Amino acid sequence: TSRSMVNFYYPPHNLGLPKPKHQLNAVLLGQAPASEEDDLVFPSPEFSSQALVPSFNQYMEMYKRSVEDPAGFWSDIAAQFYWKCRWDPSVYSGNLDVRKGNVNIKWFEGGITNICYNCLDRNIESGNGDKIAIYWEGNEPGADASLTYTQLLQRVCQLANYLKDIGVKKGDAVLIYLPMLMELPIAMLACARIGAIHSVVFAGFSAESVAQRINDCKPKVLITCNAVMRGSKLIHLKQIVDSALTESSQNGFSLGACLTYENKPAMKREATEWQVGRDVWWQDVVPKYPTTSEVEWVDAEDPLFLLYTSGSTGKPKGVLHTTGGYMIYSATTFKYAFDYKAEDVYWCTADCGWITGHSYVTYGPMLNGATVVVYEGAPNYPDPGRSWAIVDKYKVTLLYTAPTLVRSLMREGNEHVNRYSRKSLRVLGSVGEPINPSAWRWFYNVIGDSRCPISDTWWQTETGGFMIAPLPGAWPQKPGSATFPFFGVQPVIVDDKGNELEGECSGYLCIKGSWPGAFRTLFGDHERYETAYFKPFPGYYFSGDGCSRDKDGYYWLTGRVDDVINVSGHRIGTAEVESALVSHSHCTEAAVVGVEHEVKGQGIYAFVTLAEGVPYSEELRKSLILAVRKQIGAFAAPDKIHWAPGLPKTRSGKIMRRILRKIASRQLDELGDTSSLADPNVVDQLIALADH
Ligand code: WTA
Repeated sequence: TSRSMVNFYYPPHNLGLPKPKHQLNAVLLGQAPASEEDDLVFPSPEFSSQALVPSFNQYMEMYKRSVEDPAGFWSDIAAQFYWKCRWDPSVYSGNLDVRKGNVNIKWFEGGITNICYNCLDRNIESGNGDKIAIYWEGNEPGADASLTYTQLLQRVCQLANYLKDIGVKKGDAVLIYLPMLMELPIAMLACARIGAIHSVVFAGFSAESVAQRINDCKPKVLITCNAVMRGSKLIHLKQIVDSALTESSQNGFSLGACLTYENKPAMKREATEWQVGRDVWWQDVVPKYPTTSEVEWVDAEDPLFLLYTSGSTGKPKGVLHTTGGYMIYSATTFKYAFDYKAEDVYWCTADCGWITGHSYVTYGPMLNGATVVVYEGAPNYPDPGRSWAIVDKYKVTLLYTAPTLVRSLMREGNEHVNRYSRKSLRVLGSVGEPINPSAWRWFYNVIGDSRCPISDTWWQTETGGFMIAPLPGAWPQKPGSATFPFFGVQPVIVDDKGNELEGECSGYLCIKGSWPGAFRTLFGDHERYETAYFKPFPGYYFSGDGCSRDKDGYYWLTGRVDDVINVSGHRIGTAEVESALVSHSHCTEAAVVGVEHEVKGQGIYAFVTLAEGVPYSEELRKSLILAVRKQIGAFAAPDKIHWAPGLPKTRSGKIMRRILRKIASRQLDELGDTSSLADPNVVDQLIALADH
C-alpha cells in the first residue's frame, strides 16, 4: 500500500479509471458480489458531474490540505460565516495527549460570534428571509405548518426576550423536554441567541432520567409541553416533568420557571395539572414579546449545549459542545455529506433529543439556509407508507434516517413504498449503527430507485458531526461501509496495545489530532473525559467502536467494543439498565448484554438474579421491565429477561460477559474456556433456564 504523509490509504488505482455505467453494477443486477469488499456501487455520471466534490481526486486534494494545513483549510470556511470579531491568534490550539498534560481543545479561540445569528439573521440578510426554514408535519396527516426564515427569527426573538426577561443569562443552563414541535428548534435557537446553554432531553426519557439530568446541570428554566400524541398514544409530558421536579426539589433544587407549551391537538390546558408560580403557559407570555432581539455575542469557546449520553457506567455523561468549532463543523459536514444545494428540501427523521437532531435537524442545515422538514409523529403512523407520503408532500430531496427504520419499513413490504413517487429524492443518508448490506440495498434499490447515493455517516454525540462518511458523487460506495474520512479527520485503527495498524486491518477506532466539532469536556467531570476517551490509547481520541479497513482503504464499523449497546440507533449503557433492574426490590443482581435483533440492530438481554426465596414469574418479569421503563424510558426496556440463579464470575468476582453474550445469542458451542469461573456449574444452570 502506498502511504501518503497524511496517513491515508489511497484506494486502488481502478477508482481513477473511467467508471463503469452504474447500471452494470452487480447489486443492481441482483447478483451477489464476490465479497462485500468488492461490492462497489458507483454514483451515476450525471450525479457526479453536478456534485460539490465530483471526483475522488478533488476530495484527496481537499483532504490533504485539511490535515496538512488545518488552520488554512478551516479558516477559509469559517470566513464564510459572521464573526463579530475574528479569532486571534490561532485556529486551533490544545493538547490531546494525556502523557503531556491535561486534554484541552480550542478552535477559533478569541473569535466572537453567535450561532443563532449565523443560522437566521445572516441568511435573512443575504436575501433568504422568505425561504421556508421549517415545514412542520404533525402526527395526524393533514396537520401541518411552516415558517420562513424571517418568521422563525421572529419566534426565536420572542422566546429569547422572554427568557432574558425572567433572568436567564449567558452561561445559564436551560433544560428542554419537548417532542418534535417547531418549538423545539425554536427553543434551542433562542437559548443560543442569548448565550444560554441548552440541554435537550429526549422526550422518551422517564421522570427519573429527567431528574438525574436536572440534578446534574441545574437548569434555570425548563421548557416543555403539556402532552403529545405519538402514533395513537397520548403521552403526558408535563406529568413526567412534574414528577422529575418533585424528585429534584427533594434534592434542594428549585426551578425559575417551567415554560409549558399548550399542545392543543393533544391536550387542552384545562386538563393539565398546574403549579401556580412555577408553571407558565408559553402561549400566554412569549407572543407578547418583541419580535426582534439583540444577540449575545459569545466567545468561540463558550458552551453552546450539553447533551447527555450513555457510557460504560450508570451515570450518563454530559457531553459539552462549544460554539465556534461546532458551528463550522456541523455546517461543513452537512453541506458536503449531503451534497447540499440551495433548492434542496431536507428531512432528517431523528429527534432533536439526540445529537443527530442537534447537528442535522437544527444547526447544520440552518447554517446552510436549508429548508428542513420536522415531523412530529411516528414513521409508520397511520400506516407504513407515511414516510414516503411526507417525501412526496414536501418534495424531499435529501432524506437522512436510521437503519432500524429502514429495516422496519422493509418488513412491511414494497407496496407501501411503490404507492408513492419519491422522484424528488436525490441523496439518502443513514446514521446510528452499521447499516447491514441487505437493508442498504433495499434503501438504495427500492426507496431511492437505484438513483440516489447513500451517505452512511459514522459519528457520535462526542464528535459533533460526521467523521467517516461518503461524499456522494466523489467515489463508489460499498454497502455497509461508511467509506472514507471527512475533511480534517484522521482515523487510525489500533490494536489492544495501542499500536497503530497499517493497511488492511481491524481493531479499535481512534482519531488522531483534533477536529472543530470535537466535544471539549464532560460537564463537571473533566477527569472522566480524559479517562474515558484519551487514556485508553494515549495520544488518540478513542471512539469506543471496533473497525476494520479493507484493501481499498474503506472503513467498516463493526459496533461498540465497550459496555454500550445500540438499540434502534439509541445508545444505552448496560450499566444503566442493570442499575434500573437492581432498583427492583426483588432483584439482587443483573447483567445486561446486547444481542442481535432483526429490526433494532441490537436487543437488550438481561440476566437477573432474584432475592432468596423469590420465585420467578411472568408477573415479576413484567415488573422488572417496568422498573427499567420508569428509570430510563420505554426505549430501554429489555427484550428478554433470563432468570439467573447465579452469574458466571471469575474467582475475583468479575462477571464474565463474554460467556453471557454467547448464552444470550444461543451460541452454546462457542462458550470457550469456563474453567476460570468460580463456579462453572452456573453455566449449565443458565443454559437450562434459557427458555424458562
Ligand atoms: C454507532 C449517533 C456504524 C457507533 C450519531 C457510535 C454507527 C454510536 C454509525 C454513536 C454508522 C453511529 N455506522 N456505527 N454510520 N453511526 N454509529 O452518540 O457505535 O448516539 O459509537 O451518535 O453509534 O451514537 P450516538
